[in-house]
Amino acid sequence: MSDITTDVLVVGAGPAGLTMAALLAREGIDAVTVTKYPGTAHSPRAHITNQRTVEVFRDLGIEDQVKAVATDNDLMGNNVWATSFAGEELARLLTWGSGPERHSEYQLASPSKMCNIPQHILEPELLRAATGFGADIRFSTELVHITQDTDGVTATVKERDTGETHQIRAKYVVGADGGRSLVAQGLGFDFTGESGLGAAVNVWLEADLTKYTAHRPGTLYWMSQPGNDYWVGSGTWICVKPWTEWVLLFMYDPSQGEPDLSEAAVTERARTTIGDPDVDIRIKSVSTWQINHVVADRYREGRAFLVGDAAHRHPPANGLGTNTSIQDSFNLAWKLAYVLQGKAGEALLDSYDAERQPVGKQVVDRAMKSVQDMLPISQAFGFGPGQSNEEGAAALRGLFEPGPKGEARRRELATAVELQNYQFNALGVEIDQRYAAGAVVDDGTPWPEPDRDPELHHHPTTHPGARLPHAWLEKDGRAASTLDLTGRGGFTVLTGTGGQPWVDAATKLAEQLDVPLTAHVVGHEEWADVLGRWATLREVEDTGVLLVRPDHHIAYRAPRLTDNPAGDLEAALRQVLALD
Ligand code: FDA
Repeated sequence: MSDITTDVLVVGAGPAGLTMAALLAREGIDAVTVTKYPGTAHSPRAHITNQRTVEVFRDLGIEDQVKAVATDNDLMGNNVWATSFAGEELARLLTWGSGPERHSEYQLASPSKMCNIPQHILEPELLRAATGFGADIRFSTELVHITQDTDGVTATVKERDTGETHQIRAKYVVGADGGRSLVAQGLGFDFTGESGLGAAVNVWLEADLTKYTAHRPGTLYWMSQPGNDYWVGSGTWICVKPWTEWVLLFMYDPSQGEPDLSEAAVTERARTTIGDPDVDIRIKSVSTWQINHVVADRYREGRAFLVGDAAHRHPPANGLGTNTSIQDSFNLAWKLAYVLQGKAGEALLDSYDAERQPVGKQVVDRAMKSVQDMLPISQAFGFGPGQSNEEGAAALRGLFEPGPKGEARRRELATAVELQNYQFNALGVEIDQRYAAGAVVDDGTPWPEPDRDPELHHHPTTHPGARLPHAWLEKDGRAASTLDLTGRGGFTVLTGTGGQPWVDAATKLAEQLDVPLTAHVVGHEEWADVLGRWATLREVEDTGVLLVRPDHHIAYRAPRLTDNPAGDLEAALRQVLALD
């Protein structure tokens, strides 16, 4: 490799970097992605993939490929607390929208289904998409130094196979280099929060647990045994492949010393939490990672941007790690593409920080709170710090004793389990990320007041800054989501019966500004709102309009046809794209 000049240097090829590489390549942007490892993730790591992220895959055209290798939502539901797989079940919650109370709400919210896909299976799909679009991705290439000036960034990278170093000069750098981001360190990003709040061990293993799980299929099985109350108990079993491949995750306090991670020790922990000595266990790998609660104060410094764990680091609760990382890239990629193609002013790039930093803060706080909210579960089991096994076992027995004391304990447990909905059925957290400031034209109306808990429930709205609500539409016998009419790198105008002047204005504007802008009439003529659901969601009249950004967020709306649709649409698009 010789020295390189490019438009965008992406550092890191995890979920955030690969998504960025794929999206930039699809737009034909000259970009180089470097990653220090020889391949994609070699272990399962993060796995919960929420509907919003699957919508990004749908936009990239890889939803079916991902679904084909993921565990379906139907097999994700049972969240079980037990003393061991073979032991006593203590509590259960139907999760990830799979329970009858929540299922239809999840179904109505999105055309896409949540799935369980471990990172070592997801990343090759993202890599295939990126290279399919022509992305230039260089493995075993480590960033060792980076500086920036007013015109660009200069990176020194080392080829790990040969030890040779080279320079890459780029107009912009995207730091997708994870929790120890050198881009963040090297270019002076500041962070708020605490690191090293605890540590976790992931043990990836094979064990056939069909006998203990097929009747209660799920993603997470929490083993809570007397005498072990550290954070979330004796170990959480995460389904990698039903029902034979798992990650056993347990947490430890590094200030109390490092745990024994020998094969014998982790096998013993697995055996104890299975509770059946006849199950064969084969350890595949063991890795450790840190629990942090940290977010970058700004996501942009000059010509550098942070995405993914480089910008926000938090516990895995709510499964927001890879999801937020992929969604960061979905927000930033089109903005970089438009600026580099001369379709938008440089100031558009500031909106990435304005929009995604508050989301990152919200996500790290939610994830941390969800971990803390698990404490009432072990308290309800009767577990406490410093307890012996016997004391813990006696306290647990009290949970199932007849009489008022036992009844009170069981009520306490039911309340503690109910609280877990904020981690495992938090549809609002998963899908309702909104941009109050950024590349949107505020229409002066207040955001609708939520009529239910906004963390638990989805509140579709077309207020500028919100994600476009999903409704199924039909054309010539073919079903499509409102979201399918938008995205893929372009802006979209959606109007209804009588809104043809918006369509005409959009067609002219697309030519005039050389911006990809398509227009659709949804109602009867073009796309049919067969169930009438879109009419209940759109919050504008038939002749009103929504201008939707490439990342499915609403940029502008007008409640009805205006006197000057062409002028109004142009003013809105110019404002969003920071064009003078
Ligand atoms: P990610 O860390 O995935 O990728 C960083 C990329 O940057 C890699 O490609 C790396 O090679 C590259 N890189 C780093 N420094 C570089 C340099 N100097 N030069 C070039 N390339 C460089 N989350 C969760 O929700 N549940 C879980 O169970 C787990 N488990 C887990 C286990 C382990 C072992 C780890 C390390 C992490 C987890 N996580 C997790 C966290 C989850 O994996 C994380 O949120 C996402 O991977 C974040 O994706 P990113 O793409 O931002 O970074």
